[in-house]
Amino acid sequence: MIPTNRPRRNRKNQVIRDLVQETRLTAHDFIYPLFLIEGQNQRLEVKSMPGIYRHSADRVIDEVGAAVALGIHTFAPFPSISDALKDPLARESANLDGLYLRAVADIKRQFPDVVLMTDVAMDPYSSDGHDGVVNQETGEILNDASLEILGQMALAQARAGADIIGPSDMMDGRVAWIRDVLDSNAFQHVSIMSYTAKYASAFYGPFRDALDSAPKKGDKKSYQMNPANRREALRELALDELEGADMVMIKPALSYLDIIREVKDHTTLPVTAYNVSGEYAMIKAAAQNGWVDGEKTMMEVLLSIKRAGADAILTYFAKEAAEVLRRG
Ligand code: PBG
Repeated sequence: MIPTNRPRRNRKNQVIRDLVQETRLTAHDFIYPLFLIEGQNQRLEVKSMPGIYRHSADRVIDEVGAAVALGIHTFAPFPSISDALKDPLARESANLDGLYLRAVADIKRQFPDVVLMTDVAMDPYSSDGHDGVVNQETGEILNDASLEILGQMALAQARAGADIIGPSDMMDGRVAWIRDVLDSNAFQHVSIMSYTAKYASAFYGPFRDALDSAPKKGDKKSYQMNPANRREALRELALDELEGADMVMIKPALSYLDIIREVKDHTTLPVTAYNVSGEYAMIKAAAQNGWVDGEKTMMEVLLSIKRAGADAILTYFAKEAAEVLRRG
């Protein structure tokens, strides 16, 4: 039997392959995370994330400039706060004179056209290392007491100039709560990108090293989702839509490509995926050992996340991938 249907005809040379290519990456797809630390003229590499640095506020400006030159225009800053400033109620998180919000305001001043997505969760500022308030007797994470704090955090971020608020805490009702706080303070124009389906994942390890934000006791399973669950992501999606989210996010990305697709098929909102620290570290480690081609693996992974349904990708690879795309 000689085949009549020959899919290989559409792969026979590079021009035809390019012609029929279904998914393409561009630098516009990327959101670049930035780690901030106190001090001046600091640029410290995160041990478990080769090529990723914690920057002092003065130096982060150079990093933003370098990324902008590569066509990246959206950034997600995260703060690494000294233990002395942490407390059970994450009070430092609403401090407009603190490291984080000063840096946010400064980046916006120097680069008025970049879009900043700020992170709303208590963990970088919490002496307990949890995203919400901890009942000191029982260890329970208190949902409604956390909302109050998260709302104030979001409001301070809007005041500092954030374009998008990114609640990554997974408390119930926080999108509606934050929307209400923003709207009643004349921040109707500030968007909310909800971490809709954020799983209790082992892939966050290097991030917690970078920010020194690991939980002091217990785990995050009473608020982050069970990796076994798919339908639950759709329930979170329905609630986030109802509560007024402008964009939704799936996190992590690679072990959750099915969730990205599922969510994409059930919403008209833009879908973002967070290609998290452990996913970055795995590829870097294998590449450093010569076990995989780091550059090709990176591009394949990012393309796959987009193919799965992500409109945008929060990734530590942003700069490196933008360089590859620029080279063509
Ligand atoms: C916490 C937060 C985490 C990440 C982003 N925001 C870690 C966690 O939930 O413990 C992880 C991102 C990454 O691993 O790259 N609010």
